[in-house]
Amino acid sequence: MITLFGGTKGGAGKTTAAINVATVLAHEGASVIIADVDKQRSAAKWHARRVDAGHVPAMTLVEKQGNVYATLIDLDKHYDHVIVDAAGDDNQEMRTAMTAADLMIVVLRPSQLDVETLEEFTDVIDTAKDFNPELSVRSLISQAPTNHNETETVDVEEFIVEFPQIKPLVTVVYARKAFRDSLADGRGVIEVMGAPGKKARNEIQELVAEVYA
Ligand SMILES: Nc1ncnc2c1ncn2[C@@H]1O[C@H](COP(=O)(O)OP(=O)(O)O)[C@@H](O)[C@H]1O
Ligand SMILES: [Mg+2]
Repeated sequence: MITLFGGTKGGAGKTTAAINVATVLAHEGASVIIADVDKQRSAAKWHARRVDAGHVPAMTLVEKQGNVYATLIDLDKHYDHVIVDAAGDDNQEMRTAMTAADLMIVVLRPSQLDVETLEEFTDVIDTAKDFNPELSVRSLISQAPTNHNETETVDVEEFIVEFPQIKPLVTVVYARKAFRDSLADGRGVIEVMGAPGKKARNEIQELVAEVYA
């Protein structure tokens, strides 16, 4: 199965979500390959830190630019999960990955500037679906404020339901230090023990359960 993380502004949390989902799947015993198709190489750098530190399970990562369609289709034959991490702007890697993917997860911060990008993005989805009618598109709210008085998350949830091409995920990933620390460490949050990361671990487990139910 090919899962693509992409589709919004930079800094939304795509790489964080991608590497964390990949880590959970790998711990569940699936064979997983991460395809970093973003020139910024954030997932590749995370993977290099993981290899240097010797964290297990080891995961494979490939980097590819330009038209990534054939590469992803081929990888899909050899792995249970191909997790694709794309750049945030509109780019050839994301568009060609959308024609190969089973599922795209559009990662959004709960902010006006992030959700506004969805208006143009629905055209990109429609174009991809001409080539790949089976593509399913879900949205994930990431870096939500943990302060319960903030209403942005609910506002954004109400905004997303206006786009029939996108089915929102119920799971919300909050802004938590454990995500930043584990990323810097070459690990996923589920690989970090101790109380501080518990909520982050639960969110990622819940996300994987919802996405691959
Ligand atoms: N849920 C989160 N909680 C805290 N920090 C996060 C979270 N998601 C991402 N970040 C931080 O925000 C920055 C951008 O995240 P990243 O995953 O690289 O975004 P993208 O791939 O969409 O550009 C990174 O410094 C990352 O550590
Ligand atoms: Mg990224």
